[in-house]
Amino acid sequence: MSSRSAETQPVVLAAADWIEIRRHLHRYPELSGEEYETTAYLKAVLEKIGVRVADYGLKTGLVAEIGGGEGPIVALRADIDALPIEEETGLPFASEHPGRMHACGHDFHAAALIGAAQSLKLRESGLPGTVRLLFQPAEERAKGAKQLIEAGALEGVGAVIGQHNKPDLPVGTIGITPGPIMAASDGFTVTVRGTATHAAVPESGIDPIVAAAQIVTALQTIPSRSIGAQERVVVSVTQIHAGNTWNVIPDTAVLSGTIRTFDETLHARVRERAEEIAAGVAAAYGAEASVRWSGGPPPVVNDAELTRLAEQSAAALGLTARGGVTSPASEDFSFYQRHVPGVFLFVGTSGSREWHHPAFELDEAALPDAAALLADLAERTLYRLAEPNTST
Ligand code: NI
Repeated sequence: MSSRSAETQPVVLAAADWIEIRRHLHRYPELSGEEYETTAYLKAVLEKIGVRVADYGLKTGLVAEIGGGEGPIVALRADIDALPIEEETGLPFASEHPGRMHACGHDFHAAALIGAAQSLKLRESGLPGTVRLLFQPAEERAKGAKQLIEAGALEGVGAVIGQHNKPDLPVGTIGITPGPIMAASDGFTVTVRGTATHAAVPESGIDPIVAAAQIVTALQTIPSRSIGAQERVVVSVTQIHAGNTWNVIPDTAVLSGTIRTFDETLHARVRERAEEIAAGVAAAYGAEASVRWSGGPPPVVNDAELTRLAEQSAAALGLTARGGVTSPASEDFSFYQRHVPGVFLFVGTSGSREWHHPAFELDEAALPDAAALLADLAERTLYRLAEPNTST
């Protein structure tokens, strides 16, 4: 789109157009951090409907704004990246990029945010503030939210709203749950150091494999013996590597895995216990162990007041709000919530496959609802931030 677009009359896109946008994005998926065509396409669509795109110096992803003035700012966020998966849906608009697929429905999220932008644009003059649209790259690698925050996209923002499709909820149902709803994800690598020796003379060395095996077992006592039954914690060891032949005890063993928690305090506690167990068990066998963490996103924790406003939006739109909907997956939306209150909603899409499956599909009938929900909740939140003492 040329720079002349600002001079041309904006067009109004209807729900059928939003679905076409979703299909276009689905057809041309791009991986985390490589969303160049996706960004250019979304920018062109936003300019076509007269929404101003802001310059935050982003490589991929984009920020746009509707409304303005002295009032509050509410951010609406959609992720836009795809996965390294070969699509097996057989859809007429299936991926034309080999080995890449929108298998988590981020095409749906981006199109829904375009729909919300269109609805808000039509009532822009009546908005008591600004709605900032965050089309976020690299969610699947938990990098995009941090990039937008570092670029300044949260400056002045009073609340952030996001959503994710949910295949196991029917179309017309929205999962709206206060408190923790998605898990913190952490990867760990434990390196156990012993002393190599002939396999027939183990007493001459320190066997790291025996120590590592005990560490694997002992780590399972974190959920069962260190954390209360009312809490949700997962500890999974997923890789063990040691040695390279049958008659030598090696000098090191390396094991890795992941922990999932729904609470920041608990998250710190689980990490601490894992380090104590690794070091303590290794020491009992004369070995040494160190733990290296690859920190993932913290848990997604929904603000109570925003959750209540979301319930009001759902009711106003004739959608069914369902509480208690959570997921042990992680989402980098949580990084925004470290800075501003936020709410993350699950939109029912009546799918038959879970996220990241090569045959993942969703019912597009949910798209207009998802767009309407974002627009209504953004406006409702703006009013709440503008006049915090008004009862609703
Ligand atoms: Ni996703």
